[in-house]
Amino acid sequence: MPGDGIGKTVLPEAIRVLEAAGFEADYVEGDIGWEFWCKEGNPLPERTIKLLEEHKVGLFGAITSKPKEEAFNELSPGLKEKGLVYSSPIVGLRQHFNLDICMRPCHTYKGNPLNFIRRGKENSVEEPEVDVVIFRQNTEGLYGGVEWSNPDDKVYDALMTHPKFVKNFGSVPRNELSVSTRIFTKKATERILRAAFAHAAKYGYKSVTLCEKPNVIRETSGMMYKMAKEIQQEYAGIALWNTNIDAQMMWLTKNPEDYGVIVAGNMFGDIVSDGFAGLIGGLGFACSANMGDEVAVFEPTHGSAPKYADYDVSIVNPIAMIESACMMLDHLGENDKAIKIREAIAEVVAEGKVRTYDMMKMAGRPDVIEKGAASTQQMADAIIEK
Ligand code: IPM
Ligand code: MN
Repeated sequence: MPGDGIGKTVLPEAIRVLEAAGFEADYVEGDIGWEFWCKEGNPLPERTIKLLEEHKVGLFGAITSKPKEEAFNELSPGLKEKGLVYSSPIVGLRQHFNLDICMRPCHTYKGNPLNFIRRGKENSVEEPEVDVVIFRQNTEGLYGGVEWSNPDDKVYDALMTHPKFVKNFGSVPRNELSVSTRIFTKKATERILRAAFAHAAKYGYKSVTLCEKPNVIRETSGMMYKMAKEIQQEYAGIALWNTNIDAQMMWLTKNPEDYGVIVAGNMFGDIVSDGFAGLIGGLGFACSANMGDEVAVFEPTHGSAPKYADYDVSIVNPIAMIESACMMLDHLGENDKAIKIREAIAEVVAEGKVRTYDMMKMAGRPDVIEKGAASTQQMADAIIEK
């Protein structure tokens, strides 16, 4: 599923790398994204859902998540009248297949000029390593879609039965009210916590950090914390740390090397994973897996970057996409090939001869190639060569 924008340039590069590593597969292409919304009024066509039902594994590029208002004019004739609203098909895909476990590893690449700790300690020989895996609950919380603006009687009356609502908001006219709910179920909360602990145990991480806000958000975060404490009892060697999302964002800039596995609800997991990605080189390096019991979809966490999509030569960094493909290999039991690819990436980064514009701290403009930045294809070639 290449999707939109640069999804279409990075995905084919990942497939080239997979093939070079000896992974054999037939690929079927799935339609998804803004382009299909414009054509058909649906960014996640039924045929794509069928393909995933059949094949169970998806490799995903990127999609436009919030197009500009004017973009509505791009809709095919006949669709405009329907007053369609575009919503991100990746969120829809995660919910449709209950891909409730999102795993986002973030580790330091030695020699990466974007390595934050190295940047901060310019004269230090020692290069502390970040090696964190974020487990983000992927279907619930603030992403559940249970929201209202100007709520109707039923909703408003229900809210009015809550003493805190009456006290804090009861006098607000309802047409000045918007409500987004944060829903956590025990089942999904237990699944993400168990996935986090199991991963820590399997790969020897010393701690699982629950990154929520139970002191304020007592019901949802509070339930997750209580459940985490119970599950931790089954894992004698693994410590449970409890941090608040705000403090965690501060600590990850101070001592990120102290953390191992991080687990959080949907929104806080989204935030904390971008925070850690920033330390290791940014979204050009951030990969992810969306996993359910049946289906799994692997994707870089970056967006479709429409402004870079139409360059004559593609300049974006394909490493996040290639690392996501490695996570797919792990999932398929082809870990030997994933190791080969990861080692090749590490060597290319450490050598420093082939660097995309982001790794050279340049602004993303078409002239970066003349200035010595590698193109998307050249980066993939370098990895393939290794
Ligand atoms: C991510 C992205 C998505 C999210 C957007 C594109 C809807 O930020 O995968 O982290 O919020 O989950
Ligand atoms: Mn995000």
